[in-house]
Amino acid sequence: MREAVAERTGPIRDVRPADSGNHADIASTVTGERATVFVKAARKLPDRDGPEVMSLRWEARVNAFVGELAPRLLWSAEAEGWLVLAFEHVPGRHPDYSPGSPDLDPVARTVGRLQAIRLPDVVDRPVTTRWAGIGDVSPMAGTALLHTDINPGNVIIAADGSVSLVDWAFVSHGAPWVELGQMIPWLLAAGHTPGSAEAWLARFAAWRAADPEAIDHYARLHTAVWTLRSERVAAAWIKPYLADVRRWAAYRGALE
Ligand SMILES: Nc1ncnc2c1ncn2[C@@H]1O[C@H](COP(=O)(O)OP(=O)(O)OP(=O)(O)O)[C@@H](O)[C@H]1O
Ligand SMILES: [Mg+2]
Repeated sequence: MREAVAERTGPIRDVRPADSGNHADIASTVTGERATVFVKAARKLPDRDGPEVMSLRWEARVNAFVGELAPRLLWSAEAEGWLVLAFEHVPGRHPDYSPGSPDLDPVARTVGRLQAIRLPDVVDRPVTTRWAGIGDVSPMAGTALLHTDINPGNVIIAADGSVSLVDWAFVSHGAPWVELGQMIPWLLAAGHTPGSAEAWLARFAAWRAADPEAIDHYARLHTAVWTLRSERVAAAWIKPYLADVRRWAAYRGALE
């Protein structure tokens, strides 16, 4: 795989793993003699892709349609059982989602631009499958293009102030307000109250137009899904995430 990368970047001088991220087996800034790229790579299973590789395929598939909002996919390669994607390297920092943060306006503009992009045919994966088996998923169904994971770790603010969304592994289609609902736990984690998070979301037409009962329903199902998941998966971020989801759902009076 190093050879496949070096063929395109020139001899590799430095490999620097990203400060966050755990889905791809490799997510690193690779500096070659001719180019610096951001490499995401995952190993295939012996007989099929496996979840990490499938996530990378989603990222690759949608990239051309979100060009202005995401680092450009420069090339991809398959070598020795690995899938390698090389993105334009975007140096920068992650936004601060806390109340009053000056980063919130540029992030909102970027989310607004995403909400204006027409759903590409390639994104034929409904977001509703996440809550399948828990309750009626039809309120979350729709044809808006959704990133679904706009947490600060997946947003890069460059020195010139431009905002990029990375990590399109979970790209899906659904009701446009689901994108905004998915941001709520991250706003709470940064210090918002449920009320101030919702006040911020009210700037989005999709949030204002959403049926409040549909949002209540989503809050209830999302709490249920993450309650189940927290019982099965030990990752450290899940408990505080679930606590924030539940705090918001309780604020809406959505929990039985
Ligand atoms: N094109 C890029 N240029 C520079 N840094 C990037 C780029 N893409 C991603 N990053 C950085 O690398 C980190 C990990 O990338 P990403 O979130 O895509 O990986 P991941 O392994 O899928 O992570 P996760 O566990 O969040 O799903 C991001 O938080 C971001 O800081
Ligand atoms: Mg990420």
